[in-house]
Amino acid sequence: MKKLAMLTGGGDCPGLNAVIRAVVRRSHALGYDILGIKNGWAGLIHGFVEPLTDFSVTGILPRGGTILGTSRTNPFKQIEHIQKLKANWQKYGLSSLIAVGGEDTLGVAHRLFTQEGYPIVGVPKTIDNDLAGTDYTFGFDTAVQIVTEAIDRLHTTAESHKRVMVVEVMGRNSGWIAAYSGMAGGGDCILVPEIKFNMDEVCALIRKRIDRGREFAIVVVAEGAAPADSDQPITKGGHMDEFGHAQLGGIGDWLGHQIEQRTGIETRVTVLGHVQRGGTPTAFDRVLATRFGLKAVELVREKQFGYMASLRGTDIVAAPLEEALVQKLLDPKVFGDASVFFG
Ligand code: F6P
Repeated sequence: MKKLAMLTGGGDCPGLNAVIRAVVRRSHALGYDILGIKNGWAGLIHGFVEPLTDFSVTGILPRGGTILGTSRTNPFKQIEHIQKLKANWQKYGLSSLIAVGGEDTLGVAHRLFTQEGYPIVGVPKTIDNDLAGTDYTFGFDTAVQIVTEAIDRLHTTAESHKRVMVVEVMGRNSGWIAAYSGMAGGGDCILVPEIKFNMDEVCALIRKRIDRGREFAIVVVAEGAAPADSDQPITKGGHMDEFGHAQLGGIGDWLGHQIEQRTGIETRVTVLGHVQRGGTPTAFDRVLATRFGLKAVELVREKQFGYMASLRGTDIVAAPLEEALVQKLLDPKVFGDASVFFG
C-alpha cells in the first residue's frame, strides 16, 4: 500500500484544514495510507507524526489554522536536520509527500525534489497572494474579507470624530491585501510596498478630501510599504525567521504620527495583525483549498512530482514548484483602479 505523508509549513492560513480534509478523503478513496507530519518540516526532522483517518478530519472544513500545526523551520539550515529528515522518511516508509506552504516551504520541497530526488508535490498557500505560480492562493480572500469588515467599522467612528484612521495590514512585500481591501472598503489612500510613497502627496490627498466636505479619511497601509526616502521597510526589532525574513510592522504608527503632525487632523492607528490570518475561511477559500487538495492527490497518483496545484482562470492545473518561488507583485492595473477613488 502507498504511504503518503502531508505537512503544512510557514504562516498558517484559513483553508489549510480544507486541504487536509480533501487530501485525506481522496487518498483513502484511492486506498492510500496517509500520515500527518506535525509542525511543518520540523515534524519530519524530529519524528512528530500521526496517522490521519477520516475521523481526524471530520468537522474541520470551517476551522481556521491547521490541525497539523506549522512552523517556519528550514531543514537546510543544519546538515544534521537534513540527515534526520532522510532517516525519518525511510523509517516511516513514505512513498511520497504533499507539502502545503508558501515560498519557503515549497522552496524546501523543490530543493528536496531537484537535489535529492524525493517524490514531493506542493499546494500553494498564503494570505499574501504573492506566489507567481497561481492566480490566487487560498487564505487571501478571507484576509481581504476580514480587513474590509474592519475598514467598514472604522468608517463610522472616523466619521463621528472627524478623524483620519490609518489601518495597517499584512502582505509582507506585496500590496495585494491592502489594494483589494482598500478598494472594497473605500480607502481614501492606499500605500503598498511596490510603490514608494511621498508624505506630501499623502497629506495632499487627505486635504483634498476635507476640501470636498468629507471631514474624515481612511488610509490603508501595507506593512511592507515605505516612504520614498527610506530604502528599508519599517521592522519590529529586527527578528528574522529561519528563511531570513524580517518581522514587519510599525509603518502604521509612523504614518499616523506624520499625518497628525503635518495636517493637524486627529489621527488614530489600527494594526490588524494576526486577526487577518485567524478564524473560519470564506466559501471561496474553502472551495479553492478543497480543489487544491484533490489536485495534489491526483499529482501523486500520476507521479507528477516536482509540481503543485495551481489556479489558472477557473481551472486547477499542475504548475512546476519553482513557479511558487517567484514573487507575484501587485498588478499595477489593480492599484490604478483603486487609486481612482483616492482623496
Ligand atoms: O506571510 C504571511 C504573513 O502573515 C505576512 O503577511 C506577515 O508579514 C507574516 O506572515 C507574519 O509572520 P508571523 O506569523 O511569523 O508573525
